[in-house]
Parts: sequence; C-alpha cells; structure tokens
Amino acid sequence: MDYEIAEHKELVPNVHFLKIRAPLIAQKAQAGQFVIVKVDPKGERIPLSLAGWDKDDGTVSIVFLNIGTSTRKLAALGKGATIFSCVGPLGNPSQISKYGTVACMAGCYGIGALLPTAKALKEAGNRVIVVIEARSDYLLFWQAEYEKFCDQVLTSAFDVTGQRQGHAPDVLKDLIAKGEKVDRVYAVGCTFMMKISAEAAKANSVPSRVQLNPIMVDGTGMCGVCRVMLGNQKKFACVDGPEFDGQEVDWENLIKRRSAYIEEELRALSAWECKSYG
Ligand code: FES
Repeated sequence: MDYEIAEHKELVPNVHFLKIRAPLIAQKAQAGQFVIVKVDPKGERIPLSLAGWDKDDGTVSIVFLNIGTSTRKLAALGKGATIFSCVGPLGNPSQISKYGTVACMAGCYGIGALLPTAKALKEAGNRVIVVIEARSDYLLFWQAEYEKFCDQVLTSAFDVTGQRQGHAPDVLKDLIAKGEKVDRVYAVGCTFMMKISAEAAKANSVPSRVQLNPIMVDGTGMCGVCRVMLGNQKKFACVDGPEFDGQEVDWENLIKRRSAYIEEELRALSAWECKSYG
C-alpha cells in the first residue's frame, strides 16, 4: 500500500513538514509516538516522530531535517506523491500527568515532535513553558502554534538574533535563576540539546524526560539497532521508549552509536546525488 503526501511545506530552510494520508495510524496515534517511513522499496527505514495527526482527515504529520539520502528523497516529494511504506504508531506515548510547571525544550525537528506532548501536558492541567531553539532567528518556527496553548513561549538562538543567545537549556537556567519553580523538563531535538537539557534539569534537582532518536531498523524490538543504555540497563528505544528519564541516559554511548554509519551515509548520499543530478 502506498501512502499519499497530503501536504508538504518547507517550514524554514532544510526543515520540512509533511502530512501523510495514513488513516489507521491517525486513529491510534498518541503524543510521543513515531512512525517508520520507507520512501521507496529499496530505501532505508527511518524513524520520524509524529508532530500531529487528524483522525477525521486520516492524516499524520511529521517534521524532519533534510540531512541524508532518505530525508532528501522525502523532501523532494510534492503533494500527491506517494511513499512506499509508513508503519506506526510505534513506541510508547509520552509520560503525561499533572506535575505543576513543565518546561519543554524543543530544537530542530523536535520543535515539531514536541508539540503533541506539550499539548497533552497542557490538557493534563500543567503550566507549560516552551523554549524553542535554533541556530539563528530565521530558523525558528511554530512559535504561533505553541502560543495557542502554552503559558509562555521563549526562544533562543546560537547567534545574537534570538531572545536569548545560546541553547534552550540556557533559557531554562535563566528561568530557574529568576525564581521560576520548574517541576519537570521535557526535551526533544538533537542529542546534544537533550543531553544538556537533562544535565541542566539534574543540576536543579528537576526530573527530565527526553525522546531519544537512535538509528532504528524494524522499530518493533527485534533487531537491537536502537539499543540505548540507561545506567547499566540495556533498553530498546523503539519498544521501551523513545521517551526515557533524561538523567539515566548514557549520552556518550548514544552519541557514539548514532554516528556509527556516518561514512556509509555520506557515501550513500553522494552516490544518490550523482545518480539523481548526473
Ligand atoms: Fe530494532 Fe528497535 S529498531 S530493536
């Protein structure tokens, strides 16, 4: 069965939003879950967090960074094109409860991926502060989406264009230093940002949740590729996660495993580009 692209937007340079017609997935989706997409029969299987879904419309949405061969193929598809497979919803839903004040750190694709979790936290009765980070102001997106339901939306950029220069956790540190009582931190984005968010939370004795993004193959607990270490315990991000306690994650191990195939990925990308553009 092919899955039709119902909508495709480039939100900011290199970050894409896709709405995919997948009615069965839309019926069951919950905040924090993901899908595994295979663009064509010979393509790799890539895990992509759900950024939204519409049960009535029968669509699910993803936000992704155009960074490798498969995401380049995805980014090249327009409305009405189809992808070979879309499996899901996979993984466990986010841990949602009434904690008090929750600070949500979002960066890159995570600005999309964190939206359902932030909404669910708000619906559970929390005060939700979201901090969106990007390299520069012009790469920030979805502030308006978050402003619809969050109590506060803050931004940071690595250069001097954002409200605060630095990473999202720097804003978290500012908030706590100013006396804001934060009861829980959620972080979704690049591994480094999630790591430093968990560290900033730990330094202030605040529990944290992170949605990990290791390499995956089957997404159902069979191949072991998505193995992550939580203390001395082995976990499979696809079936035990993808959301985990940020203070337990072995970040160095995760960073190493995520970069294991960089050379092969670069070779695949240049081979695909040579074939596609001559
Ligand atoms: Fe294979 Fe998780 S992706 S076990």
